[in-house]
Amino acid sequence: MKLDLIRYQLIIKIKMEDQIKEAKAIIEKTSDILVLTGAGISQESGIPTFRGEDGLWRKFRAEELATLEAFQRDPKLVWEWYEWRRGLSKEAKPNPGHYALVNLENGKPNFTLITQNIDGLHQLAGSRNIIEMHGNLWQIRCASCGIVEENHDVPLNELPPKCKNCGVHGRPNVVWFGEMIPMPVIDNILIAIDKCQLMLIVGTSGVVEPAASIGLVAKHTGKTVIEVNIEPTPNSSLYDLSILGKSGEILPALCSTV
Ligand code: APR
Repeated sequence: MKLDLIRYQLIIKIKMEDQIKEAKAIIEKTSDILVLTGAGISQESGIPTFRGEDGLWRKFRAEELATLEAFQRDPKLVWEWYEWRRGLSKEAKPNPGHYALVNLENGKPNFTLITQNIDGLHQLAGSRNIIEMHGNLWQIRCASCGIVEENHDVPLNELPPKCKNCGVHGRPNVVWFGEMIPMPVIDNILIAIDKCQLMLIVGTSGVVEPAASIGLVAKHTGKTVIEVNIEPTPNSSLYDLSILGKSGEILPALCSTV
């Protein structure tokens, strides 16, 4: 039994090494690259993912808190969840996966990073051409006058925080379940898919739309799509390569010599 396990692990390792070699060759000869990241790339920085075993907060799932209804029902509870996430993100540092994407951006004439993450770690690592499709944890938007304020206070001096302009309580400047992603963001995403030749999809479960469809649109329009995840996702079999492993280990191996 033990021998079988060792043999299985060896086969998986050899497969991964072959996939990395294949992916590296594709990356090296490609000039226009689009990357989509999810919570998995921040997991090695100590920020729990949403649907992993550590994804709950006080027994709540993201789907129960990240909604306008939850906020209108209990703004203080929703803000306590975001306060917890602000605290984690404030402590977190970019990991080798984030820096590998900065290295890739520096080495390519056309590079766009779409992230579902709101933690700001890509910016902290030095990524520049970023589309934050779900907003940003460090911005507070007034629920009345709509003014957006950058605020990195941890903890916030009051929950919910008040708008400096009109005194009404603010909300996190993020996209909640059931809310539309702003059209200019969607337009920029479609332009980025159209421009790219290769797309990397890193650390996302591929279950939340419209992010989950970005890789499929890229594949459908003739782009090469490579996924990096610690486990298969619903779309893995549709992509050109699905490399199983930690983004903090795989991305540096893929992006080292660009
Ligand atoms: N390296 C690579 N992948 C990882 C790692 C890692 N170190 N750790 C976890 N993963 C993978 C998990 O296997 C999972 O497939 O990252 C993925 C994280 O999935 P989710 O927790 O569902 O996060 P995400 O896909 O980003 O969620 C999308 O849902 O709740 C909303 O708005 C929120 O942006 C979020 C969206």
